[in-house]
Amino acid sequence: MKNVFPSTHPLVRHKLTRLRDQNTEPKKFRELVRELAALLTYEATADLATQRVRIQTPMAETEGEDLQEKIGLIPILRAGLGMVEGVWELMPSAEVWHIGMYRDERTLKPVAYYNKLPVQPTVAVCLILDPMLATGGSAVATVDILKQWGVTKIKFVGLIAAPEGIQRLHSEHPDIPVHIAAIDERLNEHGYIVPGLGDAGDRLFGT
Ligand code: PRP
Ligand code: URA
Repeated sequence: MKNVFPSTHPLVRHKLTRLRDQNTEPKKFRELVRELAALLTYEATADLATQRVRIQTPMAETEGEDLQEKIGLIPILRAGLGMVEGVWELMPSAEVWHIGMYRDERTLKPVAYYNKLPVQPTVAVCLILDPMLATGGSAVATVDILKQWGVTKIKFVGLIAAPEGIQRLHSEHPDIPVHIAAIDERLNEHGYIVPGLGDAGDRLFGT
């Protein structure tokens, strides 16, 4: 599908397998989420714009490149928080703007509960961070918020997606690239991804 990029990197496949394992403890789980987030962001940012700059090395003056546009990291609470540190290490000048969203257990619809975005956008590119793309409701609602904010360059970076979530996000926002470690088989009757990894927020925070 256009604009959907499942990673084929062996390191990603290896770490994702460890992440899914129910015997993986919260401390290791957090480490794997952080590392996977960095690896996927490396792939997702391959087309970021750069601008030429002149610098002086100890040996000579030369030309190099700096990132051209201000980047915003948008973790969807809670589970997206686990991805922030890994990505921030790569882009320490990025701004982090949290969006609070939970799924109603009965309807599976997203309920927004936190948004402190300023009136005017302060970044040019947004990377939405959330490990799980299940029905796609949370991701679609977050893209809606960011587009209303005035940002047009938005990417979704996640770990595991259900085909239903990919389909929903793609049909409502076909312009948004989706970078993901794996696309799983299906959603179960409770809206959980199978085989998935269970509840990402609970496994991250030990709840
Ligand atoms: C999880 C996950 C996504 C959402 C995905 O969050 O982190 O945000 O579900 O589901 P969807 O694609 O069907 O919207 P959850 O609602 O469990 O909140 P939590 O991270 O606070 O546990
Ligand atoms: N949220 C999760 O944390 N896991 C799923 O499988 C689906 C939604």
